[in-house]
Amino acid sequence: MRKKVTKAIFPVAGLGTRFLPATKSVPKEIMTLVDRPLVQYAIDEAREAGIKEFIFVTSRGKGALEDYFDHAPQLEQELRKKGKDDLLEILKSTNMDSGEIAYIRQHRAMGLGHAVWCARRLIHNEPFAVMLPDDVIAAETPCLAQMVEAYEETGGSMVAAMEVPEEQTSSYGVLDIDADHGSMVSVKGMVEKPAQCTAPSNLAVIGRYILSPNVLRNLNRIKSGAGGEIQLTDAIAQEIGEDGDGVYGYRFRGQRFDCGSKAGFLQATVAFGLARDDLREDLEAYLMEITSSRRAAE
Ligand code: UTP
Repeated sequence: MRKKVTKAIFPVAGLGTRFLPATKSVPKEIMTLVDRPLVQYAIDEAREAGIKEFIFVTSRGKGALEDYFDHAPQLEQELRKKGKDDLLEILKSTNMDSGEIAYIRQHRAMGLGHAVWCARRLIHNEPFAVMLPDDVIAAETPCLAQMVEAYEETGGSMVAAMEVPEEQTSSYGVLDIDADHGSMVSVKGMVEKPAQCTAPSNLAVIGRYILSPNVLRNLNRIKSGAGGEIQLTDAIAQEIGEDGDGVYGYRFRGQRFDCGSKAGFLQATVAFGLARDDLREDLEAYLMEITSSRRAAE
């Protein structure tokens, strides 16, 4: 029997420079997609995949993120008094139980691998998930739940993967495919941000991972040798080959939005707005109006 994946690490200690000046005071993960902060989408997805412990790797200036997870008894009382049961339910659905959530500090932004390494003492000899809240995935079955199901077959380490246009491969970790089984690929190499025209495929890694505890051991080794950023990709890649537990790419079913970029965030706002019964009609009408008046002006 494989050990169940019950812990997830959420590295949220990055500087969020692409959203300056907003991120001077607002953590990127608290920015709202329609009416929910990015981090809430990630928490909901994790819960639906069976995650019971939520480990946040934070940094200076992320206080609003911790506050967001506090209960709000006064607000709940007010809503109850006013009979606003629907809002009360929404509020309660975001409450985290005591002890369910842990915060670890990354004292310097030394890369994603380093952020994951900072949480090492909360992970024992068990597989764990890593979720980047700025990748938001709209899917019928949440992406991490799809991966957990696939992982039960494969074990090892698994990364969410999607095809990207060739000219964009240099922005991602890219998989070198050993065998392609459709939704699942076995991996013989991984390259972080390959130079133009050198990518081994156009299958890119996005922000969902299920990792073997060995990856933390690999990070330990890399950490002691590295000067600059510590890449998670390098530590996962060490699991490829005879000494490792194997690495798999999983082509998830769903649409991923890169909410770490302005264009991705705006696209997600429109897509999630259109998916909402209470907003669709107005938003659709507005989009039609502005697109037709732009066309007319051209
Ligand atoms: P990004 O590459 O998007 O960096 O990190 P960033 O700092 O968040 O944003 P920009 O590029 O400056 O706009 C991907 C994920 O890894 C986390 C980030 O918080 C984000 O969730 N991260 C990155 C850390 O936790 N620590 C780091 O040192 C670097």
